[in-house]
Amino acid sequence: MSMLSSAQKEIPPGMIDLGIGQPSPWLLPVERMAKAAAHCTGHPEAVLLAYGVEQGDGHFRVALARFLEGIYGMSVDPGHLLVTNGASQAIDLICTLFSQAGDTIFVEEPTYFLARKIFADHRLKPVSLPMDQNGLIIEAVEEKLKSTKPAFLYTIPTHHNPTSVCFPASRREQLAELSRRYDFMVLADEVYHPLSYTSPPPLPMAGFCLSANIISLGSFSKILAPGLRLGWLQASPRVIERIVQCGLLDSGGGLNPFTSGVVRSAMELGLLDENLALLKDTYSRRMLAMCAALRSKLPLSVRFTEPAGGFFIWLTLPKDTGTLDLLSKAKMRNVEFMPGSKFSSRQGLKNFLRLSFAYYDTSELLEGVERLAAVIAEG
Ligand SMILES: Cc1ncc(COP(=O)(O)O)c(C=O)c1O
Repeated sequence: MSMLSSAQKEIPPGMIDLGIGQPSPWLLPVERMAKAAAHCTGHPEAVLLAYGVEQGDGHFRVALARFLEGIYGMSVDPGHLLVTNGASQAIDLICTLFSQAGDTIFVEEPTYFLARKIFADHRLKPVSLPMDQNGLIIEAVEEKLKSTKPAFLYTIPTHHNPTSVCFPASRREQLAELSRRYDFMVLADEVYHPLSYTSPPPLPMAGFCLSANIISLGSFSKILAPGLRLGWLQASPRVIERIVQCGLLDSGGGLNPFTSGVVRSAMELGLLDENLALLKDTYSRRMLAMCAALRSKLPLSVRFTEPAGGFFIWLTLPKDTGTLDLLSKAKMRNVEFMPGSKFSSRQGLKNFLRLSFAYYDTSELLEGVERLAAVIAEG
């Protein structure tokens, strides 16, 4: 049987898998990247094919800092940026350098399910902290800090995966203040920050990286293409210095110098801005259509909040509904989703589920919602 192949996932024919959180194939910027590659390789710089400087090419970091200044609405120093192979690799590297097997870390409940896997690879012990509609509950973090010092706290402050919650400025400030007072590291995964569909989000946690022990992660996966395997982290010079000296960068040099050369061209030619505008327009229209369909097709007992950015819609079903069981029934109707339990570090969230509007066009999303509504109605 032929399967539609999406990286990391095989999709059986006829299936609409609303769990997939990656861009539609047609949204991958093939022509823009070809232009950027031609521009970059048209002025061959042997330096792109040599081992790169550990922190990442300086010209690339200057272009990235300019791009981020536009997105974040604050000044960004290229000296505080370090090139990574994407947020997943950065999380793995931070675990390697700043934790040891057996250490406790703090994570949100729910949290990004694949980060949970990286933490498990490092034998870290996640303690999950509750969230509300405004994000991480700061009082709960402080209560835990009184008895436990984590190696770090992992958070997704903007357009959270899976809930899409965006922390208000006050929570971000309070988290930075806690990090100073209790002397622990905050690892802020800010990959969805540039994908805001309404008003710009508050200052990213990156804005606090000089005043508190904060590492902010960004990625081209969400704004250009996941296959580039290119991202960045932003941190204080002291943290950057520690990372620059690690064995991985000492042996291999900077990460991905060739690709960062191509992406530098994409930024300098305005192609990244163009691409981001297309993505925001496409995703926000899909999101609005999907939310309208969910409101009209699902029973009132299923609740959700319309996201202000990112990829996801997080549904809360009645307490006695198990979304893992519901998924088996959904598969028979050719629709899938991500059950909430995947995002839990304490085997909870059984009556939640995550939908994404990143992969399918509106007509398929609406068909997917119809099928899902029928499954939920059958119970
Ligand atoms: C919160 C979050 N962090 C990291 C990633 C992965 O990013 P990258 O492709 O840069 O490794 C994802 C992708 O789904 C994500 O949702």
